[in-house]
Amino acid sequence: MGKPVLLHSLLLSGLLLLAVLDVSLVNADDPYRFYTWTVTYGTISPLGAPQQVILINGQFPGPQLDVVTNDNLVLNLINKLDVPFLLTWNGIKQRKNSWQDGVLGTNCPIPPGSNYTYNFQPKDQIGSFNYFPSTGFHRAAGGYGAINVYQRPRIPIPYATPDGDFTLLVGDWYKTDHKALQASLDSGNSLPLPDGVLINGHTQATFSGDQGNSPCHYSPSKDSCKTYKFRVSNVGLKNTLNFRIQGHTMKLIEVEGSHVVQNMYDSLDVHVGQSVNVLVTLNQAPKDYYIVASTRFTPKMLVAKLSASGILHYSNSKTSVSGPLPAEPTYQLHGSMLQARTYRWNLTSNAARPNPQGSFHYGTIKTTKTIVLSNSATKINGKQRYAVNGVSYVNPDTPLKLADYFNIPGVFSMNSLKTTPTTGAATLATSVVPTSLHDFIEFVFQNNENTMQSWHLDGSSFWVVGFGSGQWTPAKRNTYNLADAVARHTTQVYPNSWTAILVSLDNQGMWNMRSAIWERQYLGQQFYLRVWTAEKSLANEYNIPSNALLCGKAAGRKP
Ligand SMILES: *[C@@H]1O[C@H](CO)[C@@H](O)[C@H](O)[C@H]1NC(C)=O
Ligand SMILES: *[C@@H]1O[C@H](CO)[C@@H](O)[C@H](O)[C@H]1NC(C)=O
Repeated sequence: MGKPVLLHSLLLSGLLLLAVLDVSLVNADDPYRFYTWTVTYGTISPLGAPQQVILINGQFPGPQLDVVTNDNLVLNLINKLDVPFLLTWNGIKQRKNSWQDGVLGTNCPIPPGSNYTYNFQPKDQIGSFNYFPSTGFHRAAGGYGAINVYQRPRIPIPYATPDGDFTLLVGDWYKTDHKALQASLDSGNSLPLPDGVLINGHTQATFSGDQGNSPCHYSPSKDSCKTYKFRVSNVGLKNTLNFRIQGHTMKLIEVEGSHVVQNMYDSLDVHVGQSVNVLVTLNQAPKDYYIVASTRFTPKMLVAKLSASGILHYSNSKTSVSGPLPAEPTYQLHGSMLQARTYRWNLTSNAARPNPQGSFHYGTIKTTKTIVLSNSATKINGKQRYAVNGVSYVNPDTPLKLADYFNIPGVFSMNSLKTTPTTGAATLATSVVPTSLHDFIEFVFQNNENTMQSWHLDGSSFWVVGFGSGQWTPAKRNTYNLADAVARHTTQVYPNSWTAILVSLDNQGMWNMRSAIWERQYLGQQFYLRVWTAEKSLANEYNIPSNALLCGKAAGRKP
């Protein structure tokens, strides 16, 4: 990995000089952390009946990565499955380094019985992220785990150090084996509804906290009680989950690497692929309380609510959980959208770097392009597919990044996906949207379907500037939050609604934009953004790694 001393400033449109002088010192002092992970099949029974899952070092969920901003991670992944495999690092931006993104557009999958050593840094990042398999329909078999990136010692965080730190990977789950689910999708069916919800691989999990001075003054106005951080990520396939804790309110502190205005919530909607961090103070009577993650916005006629229930156990508790599970919120789609609008950047707090988040005045930057993306469910050749602007993505045998690097023609197309919605029948293509390094782009996700969407971008986070019902029009820009929208990597798009985001494309590479709803991703609701400059410079992008796996039309080339 390159170790230059970098000084880069952002000058945009000649209009304004952003108040960001981003001085980053990447040096050999950033510690190295070495991992060897072996991927195998295993059998567990999370919903009662035994089923095949994917284990990492024998664990389900996989090992938790606890790292510090800018650590160098050297992670040798050994594939002992009978099929090719890759992990992707959800929310890790892979700055200048899309070589390590671990999706099929950037990396050859690791063949069975083989290995690949990833080499990357959570550069200038802090927060709760996760990894998961990007190949096949492996995400339905687990193989996921948490990535918790802690601040460097001298970087302050905008809240008192919590008395404890819990990581909760929550997600819907299927009893059906992942190979059977994949075969069913391959033969043209859509994904059925899930069978349950898991917290850290179980339908029940206990989180024990100490209340403090025993008993502490359990009154919300007193702060002598201890406070715990809950890192909650939705690692499921399909369903939004609502997260809540009986008898407790939650203070939102961080969303996918951004420190937010610290509002209190009774419950939070966490959409597929998203992460939120909350603080919970153990200021209630000493007993045990239910923690619930339950499905939201599923067609009521078709399915009962599914939920996993955890337990928040007070160490001085002598009473087990009692009473009904905390009820799901009474607000529905509109209320959820209102809640989403309350997620705001804290402009004065910093994130992983010393400068305040608000020193980047994203709302005053002139956009170079607007791209409107409309998702659809469709049939192609009689099979279920999902498309964006009428194009349903197919993975090529050669990663796009390698095709680009070796100038191999005919792998992807840069004009198949139009930048506004099209009418007419959907087609199959390996679609790449060309952009230039330092473009500042407005994306509008237009959802004309009656289901919740969740869109994710690799390589950059984006400001979620607006949510609205119905059709987006340019006039909706008047409603955008151009001051303190939260920057994150995954956003929901409500049924028959739109979501607008702004992205500063200052990370050269080939980056996946995809539905985080895994059936949709698998069946074509994704594409790649090529963030490109003709200038070849290590200041913009690292060299191809010397151990890069080469496959397809790149097989046999020299990295
Ligand atoms: C596979 O693992 C070995 C060490 O066991 C390592 O030397 C080699 O670089 C790894 N292969 C790749 C492609 O990273
Ligand atoms: C924003 O962060 C600062 C610390 O950087 C903190 O003092 C302040 O309370 C936070 N504001 C809100 C509204 O959360």
